[in-house]
Amino acid sequence: MDARKAKQGAKVVAGTAIVGGAGVALSSLMGPIGLLALIAPLSALAIRKGESGFDEVKSAAELIRATSTALYLHSFRSATYASAIAAQMGFRSDRVKHVHGAALVHDIGKVAIDRELLERPGPLSEEEFEEVKRHSVLGEQILLESIAQPEFAKWVRHHHERIDGTGYPDGLSGEDIPIESRIIAVADAYDAMVGGTGEPAHPYRECIESKDAIEELYRCSESQFDPSVVDAFDQVLRQGDTLFES
Ligand SMILES: [Fe+2]
Repeated sequence: MDARKAKQGAKVVAGTAIVGGAGVALSSLMGPIGLLALIAPLSALAIRKGESGFDEVKSAAELIRATSTALYLHSFRSATYASAIAAQMGFRSDRVKHVHGAALVHDIGKVAIDRELLERPGPLSEEEFEEVKRHSVLGEQILLESIAQPEFAKWVRHHHERIDGTGYPDGLSGEDIPIESRIIAVADAYDAMVGGTGEPAHPYRECIESKDAIEELYRCSESQFDPSVVDAFDQVLRQGDTLFES
């Protein structure tokens, strides 16, 4: 894609992102480089507006919303779960807030992946799955360019690592995986299984009951998930159904 086209696409899509419009296939308009061109102005705008960096997170979340409403809702719910887990694990309130922000943008790399691949009902080929897996590294790149806290980018990079070291992109294991990424992994997986009210997190996947999802998280702890994070999440869910009410 030539620079002029990328710039035009960025302009159109930036406007859409800011007003929160939905359904724009960003990846068909621009590659990751074009996306960085888009995020940078959003970031500059946010830096002028606020000092905490959270306005930048908000802009990034708006970009997700403009790309896919389903992805935005998944991100929003995952952030709610992740921050509740962090609070349950005794994180200080500013750290809880950071976990919330990072979880909100954990899948931002997907804005640079072909939507057709992300939403296809059938199974993906090995090559296609490899393409989808790039979203964690693309997310890191986008955030490094746009968000003041570099640790957000690192946590996003590692949200698909597994405790047993067979995850991606770096095959980190155990405590080498940042705790924030381990928390996001559990929140993300739970929401992918349970979805929203009567609505799956992914268009092609059936929702399952919360109790079955927790059972699955426990079944995969030690291999995929940090057992202490799964325990904390179980505690959160046992405390009642008030996560989305405040
Ligand atoms: Fe992801």
